[in-house]
Order: sequence, then C-alpha cells, then structure tokens
Amino acid sequence: SRLAILASGNGSNMQAIADACSDGTIPARITVIGSNRPGAGVLERARRAGIPQVVVDHRDYATRDAFDRAMLAELEPHAPDLVVLAGFMRILTPLFIASFRGRLLNIHPSLLPKYPGLKTHARALAAGDREHGATVHFVTDELDGGPPVLQARVPIIPDDNADTLAARVLELEHRIYPQAISWWVKGRLRLTAGEVTLDGKTM
Ligand code: GRF
Repeated sequence: SRLAILASGNGSNMQAIADACSDGTIPARITVIGSNRPGAGVLERARRAGIPQVVVDHRDYATRDAFDRAMLAELEPHAPDLVVLAGFMRILTPLFIASFRGRLLNIHPSLLPKYPGLKTHARALAAGDREHGATVHFVTDELDGGPPVLQARVPIIPDDNADTLAARVLELEHRIYPQAISWWVKGRLRLTAGEVTLDGKTM
C-alpha cells in the first residue's frame, strides 16, 4: 500500500509511522508527506527520510475548498491508498473527505468523545480527570467525531502540567497509530457504512 501523511508541525507521529514502515511493522511505504506550513519540522524529517514532500501553504488560499482542491491535486500523482493525518492542523472540507472516505485516518490527543478540538491536555487537567489518552479514528465530516478505531489511556499524575501530560500522550500516539495503520494496510480494519470492523467484527 501507498501512504500519504499530512502534518503541520514537528512530525513525531510521521516519524513513528516512517520507522514502522522501515522495520516492516507497517507493510507499506510513504509515497508523499504533505504539509500546509512551509518550514514545518515534518518537512525536514521527510527530507532526511528521502520521502517526497508537497507544501500547500494555506495562506495562499482564500477558502478551505480552494486549499483542499490544491492539496488533492498535489496528492493525486502519488496515488495514496490511505491518507494519514498526523498533527495536521487544518479542518478538511467534505470535498476532501469524500475523496478518501474509509481511507482517511486521524489521531486526536484525547479519549474521544471527550475533548474534541484543541488544548485537550489542559482541559483534562482542569477537569480533574484521573486519566487521559489518544484516539485513532476514521475522518468524517464531523470534526474529531469520526468512528474510533483504537484508543489508549495514560494516568494523569498529581504534578502533571499540560506539557508533561502531552509528552506522555505523544508516546502513546507513536504506538497506537502505527498499530491502527498496520491493521488497515493488512486489510483487517475497514469502515463500511459508518461501521468500523476489525477482522470482520464490529469494533
Ligand atoms: C500533537 O499535539 C499530537 O498530540 C497531535 O498532533 C500534535 C503534533 O504531533 N496528534 P507531531 O509531533 O507533529 O506528530
């Protein structure tokens, strides 16, 4: 399978996925790394890994639709089977999502449906939660609302702050994202008519 990864920041999730492709955990290859931010750390990681990159600077587009059409056009020649959002900080339009229904994944740093949106670690701390975590889900038109694939938890410890908690969750992301992608690439994980199945069993 051919993977496209979209990222806006440091790219530690992309790195974990690239490493998993290199060691065979994910029997696939990353054919392109896309970013909406020139200079994003993920682009340097892509260069070092010898992976082609495309940059579609969202500041060049007046509307989300125009940005999505431009990104779709850049991805097209790379013919990805699966598009992986990894720290991608753009809200995608139904136009983009429809192009990759059932083959568009995202990872969100919370135990969805808790804390969709931003600043999830600070919100979990403020709520006095005892645990936090990350969720891999299929992307649908509902922001951070797509059907979950895999979730993992970490304890919140008394002297945690948003940074220490984010770091603990990020470690978790680097484990569950490659796992979920590997399931999809191996044909074990499917989204059919809104239902997520693993090995044919509804999750
Ligand atoms: C992190 O906040 C992570 O929780 C979320 O995206 C952000 C950037 O991650 N998934 P990365 O290091 O760019 O993969």
